Amino acid sequence: MNTPNHFDSIADVFNRIWYFSDNYKDFVLEHILHDLSLNSEDILVDIGGGTGTFTSRIMEKSLLQKAYCIEPSSPMCIEAAKLGNITALCLDAHAFLTTETPFNKLLLKEVIHHIDNRETFWHDIYNRLPIGGKLLIITRPQNIDFPFFQSAKTAFSKNQPPHEIFESELKNCGFFVETKYQNHTFTLPKESWYEMLRYRFMSDLCIFSDEEIEEGIQEIDNYYYEDILEIVDNLIFMSAEKKE
Ligand SMILES: C[S@@+](CC[C@H](N)C(=O)[O-])C[C@H]1O[C@@H](n2cnc3c(N)ncnc32)[C@H](O)[C@@H]1O
Repeated sequence: MNTPNHFDSIADVFNRIWYFSDNYKDFVLEHILHDLSLNSEDILVDIGGGTGTFTSRIMEKSLLQKAYCIEPSSPMCIEAAKLGNITALCLDAHAFLTTETPFNKLLLKEVIHHIDNRETFWHDIYNRLPIGGKLLIITRPQNIDFPFFQSAKTAFSKNQPPHEIFESELKNCGFFVETKYQNHTFTLPKESWYEMLRYRFMSDLCIFSDEEIEEGIQEIDNYYYEDILEIVDNLIFMSAEKKE
């Protein structure tokens, strides 16, 4: 099932514009491998896996039994399907759970704020996971340190539920939950960051017109004098395990 969304419009440039640094990718990847305790017997489902970059890198590193990239945007899913070592399914999170695909590990990287009716979703996952099965949410707090213009910060925090809500929903469902907070700093030339904003690399930015984006970039430019931006990404890694 193809559910069109903002990411349809940036699928062809997603891998290029959603690029912070190699170091950043390795840092996130190490977290995923560790927090999901991945090994060669696992079947991983990457919900909202986008163009499959992380799904495929995880597969390379852990030699999983199988890895699925679940992605509702058809243009994004077409990119993921080009990667030979994973299976891409063009489905949203809820539609995926109506399939009988078996899995024991689940990744939700930068997607949880897009999923509605979460309580049903957690419940279905809990019932489908075997004992020892795990999920990992990678998300951000409502207030972030990204060099955004003020109205972009406001839009971001409006779309981002407080992460404590996910924690209590998962605990109520029976999961054992662990939350880690990690700030990761990287540098980017201002022009690269501005290009990301112009492409509206985050869906929170799609409410702004071209003129508003340019005004926003000017606002940032007046605030940061250096040509290179030092960017802090405030990440939250929340893992949940189904125990006996
Ligand atoms: C910011 S991207 C993250 C992509 C990928 N996880 C990564 O980190 O590279 C968010 C992705 O979630 C997908 N998405 C949006 N709503 C979704 C839903 N209801 N179920 C599953 N995926 C969804 C979007 O199409 C998009 O590809």
